[in-house]
Amino acid sequence: MHIFVTGGAGYIGSILVPTLLAAGHHVTVLDTFGDGGTQLADACRYASFNPVRGDARDERLLGEWVPKADLLMPLAALVGAPLCARDEVGARTLNRDAVIALVKRSSPSQMLIYPTTNSGYGVGSKGVFCTEETPLRPISLYGTTKAEAEQAVLDAGNGTTLRLATVFGMSPRMRIDLLVNDFTFRAVTDRAVIIFEGHAKRNYIHIRDVVGAFQHVMANYDRMRGEPYNVGLSEANLSKLELCAKIKEHVPGFTFLEAPIGEDPDKRDYIVSNAKIEATGWKPTWSLSEGIKELIKGYRMIRNARFSNV
Ligand SMILES: NC(=O)c1ccc[n+]([C@@H]2O[C@H](COP(=O)([O-])OP(=O)(O)OC[C@H]3O[C@@H](n4cnc5c(N)ncnc54)[C@H](O)[C@@H]3O)[C@@H](O)[C@H]2O)c1
Repeated sequence: MHIFVTGGAGYIGSILVPTLLAAGHHVTVLDTFGDGGTQLADACRYASFNPVRGDARDERLLGEWVPKADLLMPLAALVGAPLCARDEVGARTLNRDAVIALVKRSSPSQMLIYPTTNSGYGVGSKGVFCTEETPLRPISLYGTTKAEAEQAVLDAGNGTTLRLATVFGMSPRMRIDLLVNDFTFRAVTDRAVIIFEGHAKRNYIHIRDVVGAFQHVMANYDRMRGEPYNVGLSEANLSKLELCAKIKEHVPGFTFLEAPIGEDPDKRDYIVSNAKIEATGWKPTWSLSEGIKELIKGYRMIRNARFSNV
């Protein structure tokens, strides 16, 4: 297949794209390649890899590349609530409008897989699992723009959406702002973390299981098209305090304390059912513990000390 991926040089894309190439697909990546990193260096050995430097909002580029693809994967986004709050216009035009523009240019014969976030569930009801039927109530501009783009994909009828839990694990384009990656980094480097809203729950998923979910949709497209699916580890609907306790199993000297005052601007709090995608035969293969061990190994190499001598 010819697969068109926007934002393919990011945290998820730099695991997803090499996997698609290794499976024999042709992959065009449209990305600003803004960090100038080498995360897709390994992809260049494939004649079937085509990196295109540009903006996913550029209608001319969409007009050129969308019609050539069998499968569309719009990943480009300003990812996370803090980044979207800093650039609201960028969030609306990239996270929502660019996806709508891509969907408009797609045809019913093309496949489309769109990753969105399960943070659209916002603040769930205590003890009640959010399913794909639960109304979306995003509480950030990030969540809102992703939910609006998802609706456009589902309305078009030819797309499948994956509502991803908070992703964790090592990637050539690392992100240490994601909760598991962040807390594990602090455990390894600072040995301590102060937690706000420690009882707020979330669901988590390893980055390679996200790639596995994309592949699963590709293999089962006819029966999965037109539908949203939650993608997370059913065994890991954990509060921040429970997550820290899990990390402490692997970093014994780790201290975590809940702050008696102050609050987290991120108010997300929900538990998620992944039964719908599990019923189609998809199963995650990475546990939270395996991911934490992978991160601890990765953090022996990574440094985040641009303005420090050590
Ligand atoms: N990582 C997660 O926990 C998570 C969870 C749910 C959903 N998602 C979704 O998965 C997708 C990928 O997320 P990620 O974690 O890899 O994010 P990321 O920030 O690592 O990657 C985003 C990519 O988009 C590119 N990009 C930015 N602006 C662009 C533009 N104007 N035109 C073209 N490319 C541009 C960046 O260069 C980068 O390569 C996003 O759509 C995100 O909303 C991620």
